[in-house]
Amino acid sequence: MPTVLITGCDTGLGREFARQYADAGWTVWATYRDLAQAPDDTRMQHAALDVTDFAQFEALKQRIGDTPIDLLISNAGVGLDTGQLGTLDFGHVERMLAVNLVGALRLVETFVDRVAASEQRRIVFITSRMGSIGSNLSGGHYGYRASKAGLNALGRSLAIDLFPRGITVAMVHPGWVSTAGGGPRAPLSAEQSVQAMRALVGRLGNHETGVYLSHDGQPLPW
Ligand SMILES: NC(=O)c1ccc[n+]([C@@H]2O[C@H](COP(=O)([O-])OP(=O)(O)OC[C@H]3O[C@@H](n4cnc5c(N)ncnc54)[C@H](OP(=O)(O)O)[C@@H]3O)[C@@H](O)[C@H]2O)c1
Repeated sequence: MPTVLITGCDTGLGREFARQYADAGWTVWATYRDLAQAPDDTRMQHAALDVTDFAQFEALKQRIGDTPIDLLISNAGVGLDTGQLGTLDFGHVERMLAVNLVGALRLVETFVDRVAASEQRRIVFITSRMGSIGSNLSGGHYGYRASKAGLNALGRSLAIDLFPRGITVAMVHPGWVSTAGGGPRAPLSAEQSVQAMRALVGRLGNHETGVYLSHDGQPLPW
């Protein structure tokens, strides 16, 4: 069975990805900012990974060893209120860039060889429609938008650079989902969103690498 490694499994979409891939019989490496949040599920490998802590990447790399990783899901993300222009919270801006952007790049840097050694060779970044510059008609959210637009930019470069190694890279917006991040008014459940994203990722071909899509397969404007 294939192997998936997922970041940010403490809650929300990450936790649901881990559950659904385990249900489907995959070998699941579920990683947590806080390992104490790991569910009591012996079907998975649970590991600590705060994506801003580079030493933890090295520790996990050692633990995973030669295992090929068919699917690498960069899901960990934070959406923090940065306030209004004039009184911006730069601590929050920097935190979002560190987790949503730099952490995702570090994940690929650490595990790209394991992905290249696998059969499916897929990397998925859970991005956001908020990262679309072309469809930004409401302004604000400087840190979150910049972190996800930057994530899209690095994903696109990785798609080009990793194409010769047969690796498919996709940037996927999960929809507006009822999680701690999406809030209770969101129309989609984590279960529905992850089901749709799993189907989408499962049918992505290498010729489609570098796409920016919503969970339902709709292309999004950069
Ligand atoms: N829900 C939506 O409507 C929506 C829309 C667009 C994009 N997204 C994206 O979807 C992804 C998942 O979000 P979600 O909706 O499932 O919200 P969530 O429940 O808040 O999940 C985010 C996860 O990321 C983890 N995380 C935060 N900082 C981390 C770090 N430094 N290292 C490792 N993990 C870290 C969180 O762990 P802790 O809880 O322990 O901090 C949490 O488990 C995010 O990238 C988010 O931007 C969500």
